Amino acid sequence: MKHKVALTVNGTRREDEVEPRLLLVHYLRDVAGLTGTHIGCDTSQCGACTVLVNGEAIKSCTMFAVQAQGREVQTIEGLANGEQLHPMQQAFWDNHGLQCGYCTPGFIMAGVYLLSQNPNPTDDEIRKGLEGNLCRCTGYVNIVKSVKDAAQKMAAAQGSGRPAAGTPVTAGGE
Ligand code: FES
Ligand code: FES
Repeated sequence: MKHKVALTVNGTRREDEVEPRLLLVHYLRDVAGLTGTHIGCDTSQCGACTVLVNGEAIKSCTMFAVQAQGREVQTIEGLANGEQLHPMQQAFWDNHGLQCGYCTPGFIMAGVYLLSQNPNPTDDEIRKGLEGNLCRCTGYVNIVKSVKDAAQKMAAAQGSGRPAAGTPVTAGGE
C-alpha cells in the first residue's frame, strides 16, 4: 500500500505516493529525478547520499521518504543559483577537491552543513566534520583545503552583503 508524502525539495513543494519502505535516497533519485545524490554503499558508511533535511546533514539512505513528510530537503542540485555555483562548489572546483566526483555531492552537502554550524573551522574540525564521508580517490588534503576556501569565500560574500547561492535557511540539529 502506498502512502502520500508531501515535502519541499530544493524550494519546490512536491506530493507523491510512495511505498512506505522507499528510502529517501531512492525517492530523490527515482521519483524526483535528482540523480546528483549518489549511492556509494549499502552499509550507511560512505556519505555519498548526504543531503540537508531542515538544514541538517543526513545520509539519505538511512531515512525513509515518508519520514521527510513536511520537511525541507536540499540536494546538490539546489545549491547553485542558476549559473552561479555555491561557494562550496566553487571551492571544490578551484582546489581540485575531487577526482572521479562520485563522493563529491555528499562531501559538498556535508561541508555546507559544517560551515552552517562552524563558519571558520580548523583543519582538524573539517576532518572531524567530514568523517562520515568517504572518498576512494583523493587523499582528503584537497577536500579539507576546499572546505577552508569555501569558508573564506562565504565570509567574504557575507562581508560584501551578498547572499551565498543556495545557502540553507535553517541549520538545526547536533
Ligand atoms: S549510500 Fe548512504 S552512506 Fe553510502
Ligand atoms: S573523488 Fe572519486 S570517490 Fe571521491
